[in-house]
Amino acid sequence: MDPISDQDYLKKEQYRKGDRLDARVQLHRRFSTNPTVYFEWMYDHLQLQSNMRVLEAGCGTGELWRANLQRLPDGLKITLFDLSTGMAADTRTTVSNDSRFNFSSADAQHLPFPSSQFQRVIANYMLYHVPDISQAVRELRRVLVPGGVLCAATNSNNHMRELHELLLRFGLSVNTLPDFAARYGLENAPQILGEHFDRVEVIPFVDSLFVTDATALTAYIRSMSGMWHFVPGALEDLEQWVVEEIRTKGGFSIQKASGVVLAW
Ligand SMILES: C[S@@+](CC[C@H](N)C(=O)[O-])C[C@H]1O[C@@H](n2cnc3c(N)ncnc32)[C@H](O)[C@@H]1O
Repeated sequence: MDPISDQDYLKKEQYRKGDRLDARVQLHRRFSTNPTVYFEWMYDHLQLQSNMRVLEAGCGTGELWRANLQRLPDGLKITLFDLSTGMAADTRTTVSNDSRFNFSSADAQHLPFPSSQFQRVIANYMLYHVPDISQAVRELRRVLVPGGVLCAATNSNNHMRELHELLLRFGLSVNTLPDFAARYGLENAPQILGEHFDRVEVIPFVDSLFVTDATALTAYIRSMSGMWHFVPGALEDLEQWVVEEIRTKGGFSIQKASGVVLAW
C-alpha cells in the first residue's frame, strides 16, 4: 500500500507522536527566507472572530495554534482532532490546556460531529493522507454551517524540488518518491474541493529554504523514513555533500511551493 495513505503506518509510525513532524517544522522555522511566519500568514486568512466554532482535522502537533495563541479572539471554541491519539496528546501540550480547545481522535472520513456545527473547518497538509479524499471533503463540508469556510492548505508539485533531486541522486532504494501533491496539491485542489464547494481560492505563499545546518536537513530526511527508503550509507554521503555545499556556498537552497486553499 502507498505509505502516504496507509492509515495504519501513519498512525503507528509516521505520526505515532509529534517528534517526526516536529523535525520538519523545525527545518522550516529555522531556514525559511521569507521573514513572515507562515502559520501567522495562514491564520490571517481564516478571519476568525469572537465566538466562532472552529474544527481542525489532522491537527498534528498544533503548530497553527502554537504560532497564534496570543492572537485568538475571545469566546472561540476550537475542536482539534487527529487520527493519531499520540498527536492529539502532543497538541494538548502545545496549547497548554487552554480551555478554548478540546481534543479528540477521529478519522476525517467519518466525523463524529452533527451537521452544520462550525464556521471554520481546517484540514492543513492532511488531505493527501486520507484514503478517500472525496469522502473526507464531503464530511468536512457537512459539518460547516452555511456560509462557513474550509481551509485546506497543501503543497504544489515543485515543493522542495532540490531536496527530492538530492534524494534521488544519493541512494534512494526506489526510483520514485511518494507524490503528495498528486493526491492533493495546489494544482488539483480546485477540482477536488470544487466537487463539494461552489468557490475555491488558491493563495500561494512565496518562500524558500536556505539551509546552513546539514544535521537539521538529515533529521528532516530521517523523519520521513517509511515514506522514503535508503540504501545503507546513503544518508551519510548525502549529509557530507550538504556539509561541503554549506562550506563552499554558505548554504543549500531549496524552493518551497505551498499555500492556503479556501473553499466555501
Ligand atoms: C503532515 S501532518 C499535518 C499536521 C498539521 N495539520 C500541520 O499543518 O502541521 C498530517 C496529520 O494528519 C493526520 N491524519 C492522517 N490521516 C488522517 C485521517 N484520516 N483523519 C484525521 N487525521 C489524519 C496525521 O496523523 C498527521 O497528524
